[in-house]
Amino acid sequence: MKPKITVVGSSNVDLILKIPRLPKPGETVLEGEFSTAQGGKGANQAVAAARAGGDVHFISRVGIDDLGKNSLTAYKKDNLNLDYCVTDDAASNGVALIFVNAKGENSIGVASGANGNLDRKQVRKAAHVIESSALVLMQLETPIESVEEAITIAAAAGVPIILNPAPARVLDDNILRSVSILTPNETETEILTGISLTSDEHIRRAAQSLLEKGVGTVIITLGARGVYAANNDTNAFIPGFTVTPVDTTGAGDIFNGALAVSVAEGKSLSEAIRFANAAAALSVTKLGAQPSAHHRDDIEHFLRTH
Ligand code: RIB
Repeated sequence: MKPKITVVGSSNVDLILKIPRLPKPGETVLEGEFSTAQGGKGANQAVAAARAGGDVHFISRVGIDDLGKNSLTAYKKDNLNLDYCVTDDAASNGVALIFVNAKGENSIGVASGANGNLDRKQVRKAAHVIESSALVLMQLETPIESVEEAITIAAAAGVPIILNPAPARVLDDNILRSVSILTPNETETEILTGISLTSDEHIRRAAQSLLEKGVGTVIITLGARGVYAANNDTNAFIPGFTVTPVDTTGAGDIFNGALAVSVAEGKSLSEAIRFANAAAALSVTKLGAQPSAHHRDDIEHFLRTH
């Protein structure tokens, strides 16, 4: 049976310009190729988890406009349960403008739209969904009150919480002490801990400081290098897979979606990280966030052949 995973978070439509290099302030760069794709950190993680084998319930908020309507149609095709995904009757859909350069690196600006109205009350209405989940997955692209409420409900019910602290911001210790698995990238780790990650020793120290704040397990994602994972029993650098990047947008989201499924299935931490690393590696070989979330068969095939 598929594990029930609740994702609380944002939904955007991404307007993507693949361009030779990222423009500097005041600069115009020609030769772009334009495309659109479903995005938003919450939706990317929800879709990645569904394709990786989860029964995903998505608590989110889309706009009253066509972008919102089309998003719901897309999520239904991925079998997301949308009972608590609300169409905001006053706000437009979240939109991200994304430049992607020839190396697959990106630069992103977001207009939150309806995501900005995902409040405590909306999350509270879905309390029974959270309470009956195998795991809850969250990010920080919706108001912090939505994250706090979901954490309160999940923690009271003993439901494990994965928090991907993106985009970066400082977090209260009350939040950190309820998190089972925290998955910051390097920038987010620096902002959460105040420690610059200039060496492996600094990475270890930063992870340790998060464990001391009460986080269960810390997985610091290090891009192509893989991850550093630490908890009270174990710590290790776990390498990723080498691929030629086309677009790294959403790779962290795909990692989290796949990780959530594997953890909810009861896999060991190292197995779950290997599965998530494979999903993330596959994702950077394709343009767009949700278009690059692979299905479980593809991830397992990649793992067998690498
Ligand atoms: O993490 C990638 C995502 O960040 C994009 O899909 C974009 O919508 C922004 O939310």
